[in-house]
Amino acid sequence: MEYGVGSNNIVLYKELMDRDVPLEVRRHPGMISPDERRFFYNYVAEHYTGKGVIVDGGALLGASTRCFGEAINASPRRAEILAKWPKPIHSYERTLMTPNLLRSFAAWRRGPDINAGDSFERVLRDEIEDIAGMVELNVGDILAMRWSGEPIEILFLDVLKTPEINRHALREYFPRLVPGALVIQQDYFIDSLPYIKTTQEAMSDHFDFVAQLRPTGVFQLKQSLSHEVLAAAEDISTVRQLELIDAAKQRALEPYRKILVEISKIHVLARGERKAEAVALLDSIAAEVSDDAPWRLNDSLDRARRILRLPMRRPGGGWIPPLPERKAASQ
Ligand SMILES: C[S@@+](CC[C@H](N)C(=O)[O-])C[C@H]1O[C@@H](n2cnc3c(N)ncnc32)[C@H](O)[C@@H]1O
Repeated sequence: MEYGVGSNNIVLYKELMDRDVPLEVRRHPGMISPDERRFFYNYVAEHYTGKGVIVDGGALLGASTRCFGEAINASPRRAEILAKWPKPIHSYERTLMTPNLLRSFAAWRRGPDINAGDSFERVLRDEIEDIAGMVELNVGDILAMRWSGEPIEILFLDVLKTPEINRHALREYFPRLVPGALVIQQDYFIDSLPYIKTTQEAMSDHFDFVAQLRPTGVFQLKQSLSHEVLAAAEDISTVRQLELIDAAKQRALEPYRKILVEISKIHVLARGERKAEAVALLDSIAAEVSDDAPWRLNDSLDRARRILRLPMRRPGGGWIPPLPERKAASQ
């Protein structure tokens, strides 16, 4: 099967992908892909009006922050935007070094003296120094921060790593989106964090689908979101969640992304205590995924097996028994 790894599905603003991106945006250390950088940079340079500010959630070392800042500098509306919002970019980052991030920092040759558990705030500030004047950098747990109430024209979300943060974003930022605002969901076409897909798809009548850029979903708001729409997106039955994941799956063209999104249903079923259905779905997806499939597909199936406490595949053949259930910590 042709899985189509690395594919995009750009529905609106296709022309942005033909434009150049400055070297400093391309080279900035970070996890967003070259295609995302191209799309975000050129969208902001050409279409960001300044009707609202930019929220940049999960900045890490500021790759997205740099895209937005350099794009404002290149925008014909720069002076008018900065007159209205001296700091139009509101970035959020807790700056906590984790064991996983240590590997990324080593690859980027940044912060060699920073250990897991330490703050990397100093490195982030250095990396965004050139555009720091237009950035309000909020360091700490985003859950502890309230939104000031300013209108939002671009909402970049690469921080919705728990259902609580997803709910926080829905309550703090979505109500302030202006019509025409772009919502960039970085963890969309992946196997985990299913609540991101279900929350966004629950509001799909109010958004146009703009693009799938590898894992990222981009949506454009048609009209402001009412309290009723926002409240309904917070409380979704398991059956409806499965339907909404199907809707997300339709947006990607290639089997690779569609299979990842389908796997996220297993997470929903497991959470909804519907283990037999989750196992049946896992078996049917696994039967479609060949041994030589992209490693991430087999990895995602193993992640689902771990959640369901099933044996996982051993690289090179055989099965690893499930881990024993952890005893609850004594009080
Ligand atoms: C996948 S990374 C972001 C990658 C970044 N957008 C890039 O392109 O390089 C997610 C980021 O969210 C941050 N994060 C996770 N939970 C957070 C929280 N509760 N508050 C603030 N930041 C958080 C992490 O520190 C991490 O840098």
